[in-house]
Amino acid sequence: MALKKNIRELQKRRKEVFAGGGEKAIEKQIAMGKLTARERIISLVDKGSFSEYDLFVEHEARDFNMDKKTLHGDGVIIGTGTIHKKPVAIFAQDFTVAGGSLGLMHSRKITKIMDYALKMRMPLIGINDSGGARIQEGVNSLAGYGEIFFRNTLSSGVIPQISVILGPCAGGAVYSPALTDFVFVTDKISKMFITGPEVIKTVLGEEISMEDLGGARVHSEITGNAHFFAESEVETLDQIKKLLSFIPWNNTDKSDICKIKAPKKEFKIGQIVPDDPRQPYDVRDVLNSIVDDSDFFEVQKMWAANMVIGFGRLGGKTVGFVCNQPLVLAGVLDVDSSDKAARFIRYCDAFNIPIITLVDLPGYLPGVDQEHAGVIRHGAKLLYAYSEATVPKITLIIRKAYGGGYIAMSSRHLRADFVFSWPGAEIAVMGPEGAANIIFRKEINEADDPEKMRQKKIKEYKSKFSNPYVAAAKGYIDAVIEPEETRKLFLHAIKVSSNKAIASPNKKHGIPPF
Ligand code: HXC
Repeated sequence: MALKKNIRELQKRRKEVFAGGGEKAIEKQIAMGKLTARERIISLVDKGSFSEYDLFVEHEARDFNMDKKTLHGDGVIIGTGTIHKKPVAIFAQDFTVAGGSLGLMHSRKITKIMDYALKMRMPLIGINDSGGARIQEGVNSLAGYGEIFFRNTLSSGVIPQISVILGPCAGGAVYSPALTDFVFVTDKISKMFITGPEVIKTVLGEEISMEDLGGARVHSEITGNAHFFAESEVETLDQIKKLLSFIPWNNTDKSDICKIKAPKKEFKIGQIVPDDPRQPYDVRDVLNSIVDDSDFFEVQKMWAANMVIGFGRLGGKTVGFVCNQPLVLAGVLDVDSSDKAARFIRYCDAFNIPIITLVDLPGYLPGVDQEHAGVIRHGAKLLYAYSEATVPKITLIIRKAYGGGYIAMSSRHLRADFVFSWPGAEIAVMGPEGAANIIFRKEINEADDPEKMRQKKIKEYKSKFSNPYVAAAKGYIDAVIEPEETRKLFLHAIKVSSNKAIASPNKKHGIPPF
C-alpha cells in the first residue's frame, strides 16, 4: 500500500518537472519553430534509451525574489542514452525555465554529466538554448561557467565533445561550444554572440539584429565557429547521428568498421581534372570517386571553402580528408583555410583517424590583407599540425604543388608516410610564368622579341621542373600513379600503416602558434 502511495508521489513530482516552464513558455518555444529540450534528446538517442538524472535538483538562490521561484530541473536536463547502440552523455538546456539561464545548480548538473562522460570515455553532447549566466545568481553563475570551461579543456582530445546551438547562446556561454570539437547550428534558430544587440546599441550606438550579429549563417560562413549548418532542428539532429557514425568514441577506441561499398560509378576519377591547368574542378568529385559509397561527409562546408575537410571511409574504415579546393580561389592557402585544416588535423590525430591530403594549389594568397591578418602565424599552424600528427598520413599531389604550399600540404618533409602524385603534377618553387619572369628577366628583356623569348623560357622551365619526376627522382614522391589506381593504393597504404608507431621527443607539450 505504502509503495503504491510512494509511486504515486514520484509520478506526481515527475509530472511537475516534466511540465518545464509551463504551458505558455512551451507554446512560445514551439511558435519559434523549436523543439522542447526533452523532445530534442528523445529525437536524438536510440528509441527508449534515455535515462535522466538530477530531475529533482532545485536552485538555491535567495536574492531578487528567487526564493519564491521554483525552476523545474533548474532549467537543464542531463542524462545518458545510446546512439548507434553506443553510450553518450547529454545535457540540454530548457529555455522554458528561466530562459535556460545558468545558475549554480544548473551548472552542477552539467558538470556532473561532463564528469560521467570523461570517466566512462563516451561522447558528450551539449544542447545549448540559454540566456547565459543567470543574472540573479551573480558570481555563482560565473563560477559555473568556469567549471564547465575547465572540464571542456580536460576532456579535449579524450572524448568527442559536440555542441548544438538551438536557441540563444549568449555572453561567456559561447566559450563552452568554442572549446568543443564540433558545433552544430540551425538556420534562424541558433544565435551566438558575446555582447548582444542591446549592449552594442548602448555602447556603440549601432543597431543590428541577433540574426545578423550571430545567426547560424554568420557562424557557418563568416566566423567559422560552426561546423555543421542545417535548415531545421530535425536535420541538425540527423547530422549529429551521421557524424557519430564516423568518429571513434574516445581516443583509445577505433571507429566502427562498416560494410565496404565501392564508389558510385557516376564519379569517373580519370575525367575530373581538366587538361588546361588554369581550369578549376571540384575536389569533392575526386573524393566521391575514391571513398566508399561516394559518401564524403564535409565539415565546415560554408567557411574557408578553398579548403575542403571532412570524413569518408576507405575499406569500411574512417579517414579524415584535407584537400585544396581548386574551385574556390584556385585552392590557395590563406589565414582561414590554414586554421580550418590545422584544427581538423589535430582532431584526427587525437582520435587516431588516418589523414589523406589531396594537393592542388598555387601557394599562399598574396596581399596586404593576408599579411596583416597574420598569414605567417596562421599558416604556421598548418605546418605544426601536420608535423606533430603521428597518425598515418597519406598525400596525393593531383596537379599544382607550388612553393610553401607544397611543403605545408603534408609533404614528405613533414613526415607524410606515403606521397603519391598523378602524372600531370607540377611541383616547383612557383608557377612557371612567375619563375621565368624572375630567373630569365635579362634574356627576356634583351631579346628581339621579348614575348616570344618569355614563352620559350616558360616552356623550358615547365619541362625541367613542373612535373613530378624531379621530386620522384629524389624519393620525395613514392610513386607516380594513374588516377584509376588511386583508391587501390590508398586502401593499401591504410592497411600497411595500421600499426604505425613512432616516438616523438619527450615533452610536456609543444607550443603551437595558436
Ligand atoms: C536570468 C534570464 C536570463 C538571464 C533570460 N532570462 N536570460 N534570467 N538570467 N541571463 C529569463 C527572462 O527574464 C525571462 O523570464 C525568460 O528567461 C525568457 O526570456 P525572454 O527575454 O522573455 O526571451 P526572449 O525574448 O526570447 O529573449 C531571449 C534573450 C534575452 C535574447 C536570451 O532573454 C536576453 O537578452 N537575455 C540576456 C542575455 C545576456 O546578455 N546574457 C549574458 C549574461 S552575462 P520570465 O520570468 O519573464 O519568463 C554572461 C557572462 C558569462 O553570460 C561569463 C562566463 C565567462
